[in-house]
Amino acid sequence: MLAILVILFAAASWAQSPGEALFSRHCSFCHGANGRGGERGPAITDRNLRQRTDLADLVRKGIPDKGMPPIALADAPMGDLVAYMKSLEPTASGRAPATEIRINGPSLEQIVKPPEGSWPTYHGNVSGNRHSPLNQINEQNAGRLAPAWLYSIPGAPRLQMTPIVFDGVMYVTAPNEAYAIRPDNGREIWRFRRPRTKGMAGDAASGINRGVAILEHRLFIATDNAHLLALDRATGRLLWEAEMADHRENYGATSAPLIAGGLVIAGMSGGDEGARGFLDAYDPSTGKRAWRFWTVPAPGEPGSETWKGDDWKHGCAATWLTGSYDPSLELILWPTGNPCPDYNGDGRLGDNLYANSVIALDPKSGKLRWHYQFTPHDLWDWDSTETMMSVDHGGKKLLVHADRNGFFYVLDRTSGKLVYAKPFVKRLTWASGIDPKSGRPIRKPEAVPTPEGTKACPAVEGATNWFSTAFHPGTGLYYVQSLEKCTIYSKRPAEWKPGESHYGGDTKRVPNERGRKYLRAIDLATGELRWELEQDGPANTWGGVLSTEGGLVFFGHDNGDFAAADARSGKLLWSFPANQGWKSSPMTYLVGSRQYVATAAGSNIIAFALK
Ligand code: HEC
Repeated sequence: MLAILVILFAAASWAQSPGEALFSRHCSFCHGANGRGGERGPAITDRNLRQRTDLADLVRKGIPDKGMPPIALADAPMGDLVAYMKSLEPTASGRAPATEIRINGPSLEQIVKPPEGSWPTYHGNVSGNRHSPLNQINEQNAGRLAPAWLYSIPGAPRLQMTPIVFDGVMYVTAPNEAYAIRPDNGREIWRFRRPRTKGMAGDAASGINRGVAILEHRLFIATDNAHLLALDRATGRLLWEAEMADHRENYGATSAPLIAGGLVIAGMSGGDEGARGFLDAYDPSTGKRAWRFWTVPAPGEPGSETWKGDDWKHGCAATWLTGSYDPSLELILWPTGNPCPDYNGDGRLGDNLYANSVIALDPKSGKLRWHYQFTPHDLWDWDSTETMMSVDHGGKKLLVHADRNGFFYVLDRTSGKLVYAKPFVKRLTWASGIDPKSGRPIRKPEAVPTPEGTKACPAVEGATNWFSTAFHPGTGLYYVQSLEKCTIYSKRPAEWKPGESHYGGDTKRVPNERGRKYLRAIDLATGELRWELEQDGPANTWGGVLSTEGGLVFFGHDNGDFAAADARSGKLLWSFPANQGWKSSPMTYLVGSRQYVATAAGSNIIAFALK
């Protein structure tokens, strides 16, 4: 047996010439093994390769208009590759099999109803619920999970992106960079890179990008300087570019766009830098702006009466996390961030609409249907840019959301009316509850920031934050990574300046007090805590959750592990010592019949599968 294996191994390594190895690495994904044609590229064996002298040039330039990316190889390996191409034989019949080349998809229908095993949007589906119907990896076998591949983005900062997988290709991003890689082995197909913008402030300057949107043959990515780009999904070639706003006015962009109502919906960042917030929609084929919704109304517009003073001009309410889309009600549900200056509300007396809210917009026109504000007149930087999840449960169309301010909210999605709100953390001092009639918080004045500093809870990082949440329809449980922590908040006078933050104060740790992270499962029917998993770590990791039909909740553990818990009981079933300070949310997909779970980890993407 061993002898046979040795012979087979020797034969296999003898069979793979360096040129063939290069071909199978870079080309056969599209052109099939031996160049006989595949789903994404034609057979090339019948193109008189033996006579041609332009092959190295062809490979280096690619045929971007037709779906072949340029592939850079040094002279020696290129020589090997060209030699191998010249050795390719046509098929036995003398003709290459006809193959249908598919580089298109997903359609609008497929974005709303993802084909099995795909993950075509930031959250995997437009509802915002990171619950996957895949169950190959489950409670029984989770212990057998092991890394399947790893892909590193050279020089990338800690990645915050969620990969997208569609039709056998994965798309991942770093700031101003997009990569198409194979979801079965992480090998690169193409890359798009442009330099980061200099002289910026805030999140975009620190190097954050959370991913792409995809529609038919186009990918959409926002750049650090608030441009929206469309790339060709087969080659990474730039198709169009739209400037959303001037980055010198402290505008940036960090989130993955969303396809809704046939348009590309894109948010902006700069929500601690005094950028006046808006949400935009663009025509996917031309890049022409279809509408804009200002999240801070101008004087005279509805809602402007909630900003007494001049601070609305740099009022923030940024739209820096991907929203969700409800096709049944034709609604976009988009979260908004804090008002500015963050800790000083003296120049913005009133509720400060539409900061810290969910805005429900018509995707075609951008018209406001309703809104709900979680923290009126916020003074603690409690952006509501946590997932806005649509859940149909108990015969009701609900919007489910755990807010940075410490309350778990269930709203009626048809009207924006509160169904109930309950605290999901114990350390919560700014309000005693949410009034069920008005839907407004019952505030405690002692939590308001002062020049001397005021201790208030939750902490400035929030009871939770932008990383993903999930709802499992089978368990009826909502899963959220939560933080028990407080902060000392102080206020200062604030003056807006380009290239600077606009906090109007600062925050300090509470001496001799430490935070603690818990993965919590909340019963959606009652708002009661069903289980929690306490994490022993530094309490400053930002890992999201993914729930699956396999009865598992995957999450970035605060101790640096990537882990899976039993969705019903919260028992820890598996963990992998990735040693990461998590800043990302996991996803899952199928290649052929194999299920993978992938997550960004540092400057890498790691995919796990059963051994
Ligand atoms: C992402 C898919 C993709 C990859 C990867 C790819 N190609 Fe192509 N290639 C195509 C498509 C699509 C065409 C057909 C273009 C057209 O319609 O003319 C093509 C055409 C060709 C042709 C025929 C061009 C001609 O002028 O006759 C050759 C030869 C070729 N590719 C070689 C390669 C080699 C070698 C590699 C790897 C180094 C490679 N391709 C990688 C998609 C790909």
